[in-house]
Amino acid sequence: MTWLEYHELTKHSAESLRRTQHYLDWANMPNPFRHYEGVRVVDLPADPPAPQISALEVLEGKTGNTLARDGAEFLSQLMFYSASISASKRVPSTGAIYSLRVNPSSGNLHPTEFHFCTRGLVDWSNGLYHYRPSSHMAEQRAIGDFAATLGNDSAPLIFVLTSIAWREAWKYGDRAYRYCLHDIGHAWQALTLAARSLGSESFAIGHFADDRVAESCLLSADEWPMLIVGLHGASIPVNKLNGGETVVFGGQPNRLSEEQKTYPLIEGIHTATKLSTESAILSLGEPKVSGRGGVRLPPAFSTNQSFGVVARTRRSALDFKGGRGSISLPQLATLLSGTRQRLFADFATDRYVHLYLYVHRVEGLEPGVYRFWPEHAELERIKAGDQRLVAAALSLGQDLAGNACVAFSMIGDFENAASRYGDRGYRYVHFEAGAIGQRIYLAAEALGLGATGIGAFFDDEVNRYLGLSSELGQVVYHFAIGYPVVDPRLEA
Ligand SMILES: Cc1cc2nc3c(=O)[nH]c(=O)nc-3n(C[C@H](O)[C@H](O)[C@H](O)COP(=O)(O)O)c2cc1C
Repeated sequence: MTWLEYHELTKHSAESLRRTQHYLDWANMPNPFRHYEGVRVVDLPADPPAPQISALEVLEGKTGNTLARDGAEFLSQLMFYSASISASKRVPSTGAIYSLRVNPSSGNLHPTEFHFCTRGLVDWSNGLYHYRPSSHMAEQRAIGDFAATLGNDSAPLIFVLTSIAWREAWKYGDRAYRYCLHDIGHAWQALTLAARSLGSESFAIGHFADDRVAESCLLSADEWPMLIVGLHGASIPVNKLNGGETVVFGGQPNRLSEEQKTYPLIEGIHTATKLSTESAILSLGEPKVSGRGGVRLPPAFSTNQSFGVVARTRRSALDFKGGRGSISLPQLATLLSGTRQRLFADFATDRYVHLYLYVHRVEGLEPGVYRFWPEHAELERIKAGDQRLVAAALSLGQDLAGNACVAFSMIGDFENAASRYGDRGYRYVHFEAGAIGQRIYLAAEALGLGATGIGAFFDDEVNRYLGLSSELGQVVYHFAIGYPVVDPRLEA
């Protein structure tokens, strides 16, 4: 299987929706929480100090400074503002309650797990841990210097983000691998931006030998390593490299559902995108996407909504108040500005995702479709007229894309990514789209707006509507921003 075959075979079309025999087997729904049983579980202190820096400043690249007393408090802050449970919803018909987290996830199924290796954190044993969001604790799976086994000999803290594709495939079938990759992009930025708000920086590695990393992190066969994120900086409380012997506990991964189905297309694309040897990516320097449009955006502005509050109150809008209220051009400029900032990753030496906007209600901007040119912060109008029906129809008939003030098609330059990285490039385009999406979510929240990531769209219809040939790219993700309707199910 190649990335192109997988992509073609998992496109939505009117025909593919008619053909599908997929149904939701509720009795077999996978548990959204992985636990490793039989290992020591370390408490992360409650109510860790909140990052006070403005969320919009963090998105523009500024670094906060929220001091932690020791390793446990730093880890608690980091996870509380990137991956913990932050709200819950009640199903009106049954009264059942389910949780929502700081990082968003397609269908709230949360395929992403956070593993981390520590080295020299104050009052915290070096080792390999797994974050347990259900109780905000760390499962100690081994002690010793596991960071070294990941090929990193300097960072005091290294995360390995993994995907459990079955969780997502249970609902979305073969297309689910795409959503797992988007989710990793979101989780990466949730982690990286929380780290920055606390005063540390990060660098992500996407190009690694998969099986070696899976082995180092003692992963079970249903968990696949996707991204390694190293954290560094003065705000991480480090004392000395307390050596010591290596002891492996491992732990028994919990069973997620009675029966775990396999999806040959997902197995196929995962195998196609795996690497068996290490080879570092050579930097091409700062990526540039040059092009000009007729609309120059005003400068971005900041609000004093703190990162801590914004990260924890971010939610996906169920729908938007169609027909009511516009956003201003400076607000749109601020939303887009955060997407222009550099992404710190080995695969981010080029930008593969380009933004097309369906402008419905933005003061001073005629409705139409615009391409965003990030280098000069300009918009180029490529279609005129009301786009509300089209945006909703292209997003698999989801009203929210028409009721928003602005909706997006993110267009992925898959061909170029594949010519540089082979099939592995398929992952990187989705990571970048998810990363941009996470930045849009946080910027929207900081501006008092709502946003929703949209993974379901009619692929070829979008490509046709935007007049894209495959060399120009294909749709990889949709997004919508506007004034959210109240969700009566939300509890906290
Ligand atoms: C990759 C991705 C795809 C999504 N696709 C859709 C979608 O097609 N329609 C929709 O209404 N919500 C979509 N969502 C929003 C999720 O349903 C939402 O993140 C999840 O229910 C958790 O809620 P929260 O974001 O408020 O934490 C998507 C989210 C992500 C990250």
